[in-house]
Amino acid sequence: MAKFYLTTPLYYVNSKLHVGHTYTTLFSDAVIRYKKAMGFDTFFLTGSDEHGQKIFEAAREKNITPQQLADENVSYFKELWKLLNVKYDKFIRTTDEYHEKRVRDVLQKLYNKGDIYKGKYEAYHCIPCESFWNEKQLTDGKCPTCGGEVKWEEQENYFFKISKYKDIIREKLKSDPNLIRPRIRYNEIMGKLDDSMDDKSISRSHFDWGVRLPFDDSQVCYVWFDAILNYITAIGYSDDMEMFNRYWPADIHVIGKDILWFHTLFWFSILEALDIPLPTVYAHGYWLLKGGKMSKRSGVVVDPFELVDKYGIDPLRFFLLSELSEGSDTEFSEERLVGKFNTELVNIVSNTLHRTLTMVEKYLDGSLDYIIENTDMEDKLIAEYEKRREEYIRNFDNFKLPQAIDAVMDFLRYINGYINDAAPFKSGKDDKNRTAAILYTVLEAVRNVSLMLYPIIPDTANKILERLNCKNKIDLKKDLEWGRLDKKSIYKKDEPIFMRLK
Ligand code: MSP
Repeated sequence: MAKFYLTTPLYYVNSKLHVGHTYTTLFSDAVIRYKKAMGFDTFFLTGSDEHGQKIFEAAREKNITPQQLADENVSYFKELWKLLNVKYDKFIRTTDEYHEKRVRDVLQKLYNKGDIYKGKYEAYHCIPCESFWNEKQLTDGKCPTCGGEVKWEEQENYFFKISKYKDIIREKLKSDPNLIRPRIRYNEIMGKLDDSMDDKSISRSHFDWGVRLPFDDSQVCYVWFDAILNYITAIGYSDDMEMFNRYWPADIHVIGKDILWFHTLFWFSILEALDIPLPTVYAHGYWLLKGGKMSKRSGVVVDPFELVDKYGIDPLRFFLLSELSEGSDTEFSEERLVGKFNTELVNIVSNTLHRTLTMVEKYLDGSLDYIIENTDMEDKLIAEYEKRREEYIRNFDNFKLPQAIDAVMDFLRYINGYINDAAPFKSGKDDKNRTAAILYTVLEAVRNVSLMLYPIIPDTANKILERLNCKNKIDLKKDLEWGRLDKKSIYKKDEPIFMRLK
């Protein structure tokens, strides 16, 4: 069985999460559900980033220990993922003992190899981003990522020899551009490669909230070096190699574009140094609010708990996953969320099902057990279905979720046109065979639609499949074949799945 290993970033535990973070995890959940339903041996990793100066200072401000702050927010993260129906396999915390031990093993290995050495460190530090810059990299004296204030820091530190791996990484990226997706992000990194692969300081001595270096216990490991290693420590590196070999390399590290450099040039260099194959990185764009990036620091954020309270889980999942196209940023808007919900989920998905089940009950007493003969109209609909299914799979395989969803919605619109043209409400009770043929076709189409929407809106898909008497474990390869709806079942009309939102 082919495997599929997916990771999200580890979220910082200094504060609560907003819709931007929520999106990264929902996108991951949808991809993993799709892959699992396609028959892959999947592993979905998420977690929390708990060390470093930023967390240390946030805890100090609240008069609690960093560990207390981390515990508080980890409970909150897990509550959010549960609420949103996110089904991860493992939640790693960078304060987990096994992780810290494995980080120390890696540090020792690289130190022994001569890839970590002592030197003098001088750089501008952006505390909120936990990033370091030289003079040239600053934008008008400010952090080039977030535009915030930076602080000059000098100390004796340990450095990691990124520069040693520049050529090999350039070669590998040239021969496999799909290691960084989508292409716009690949181009961005190729453009930065020459200027941003100087050796990097990977230890700190002025605070102690971190993993102690095994070869110098007066220093702790830089938070990014510790955190990025989670992708391999979580699956066993380097003392449970059976698990590690089963899943590595990651098939997709899902991240936002803000942390692309860390996940490529920095991470890839560490992996090269450890002689481990490179993973694939997928970076999405930003959710904006009032024109700028939604971020904790700007304070311009939308709380996912509030949105679920107001609109429900699947409407939020559907909106977020269908609106942010790869390579672009998108303004968040509740008005658009409501509009999308009403025009697509209510008017098309919910109404098509409700209307059809009502007719099956009204004209055929809930049974489709008639002599069903397809005409040209049905043959055309099935051909349309096959085209849209291919489009859906191709797009999902390439992580183009909005396009995959569009393929399904276009097919649903086609089904609605078919209902109007085939007019089961006219053949009604007089020609039961013909009416059954039409309504069977529609319900079979809706069955396939709900399967395709399952990774995006799992609860809704399951509800629909239940009404169609076919709620089993989902196996898309088998289930997406035309004609699996049971003719012998009795179909009952029910309350609509969704009602319009104001
Ligand atoms: N702790 C680091 C990641 C370490 S991974 C080894 C970190 N954490 S974070 O909590 O600040 O943000 C994590 C991710 O949240 C971002 O990379 C991005 O995926 C997502 N987003 C945060 N704000 C976002 C938007 N406004 N829009 C879209 N995604 C956003 O960075």
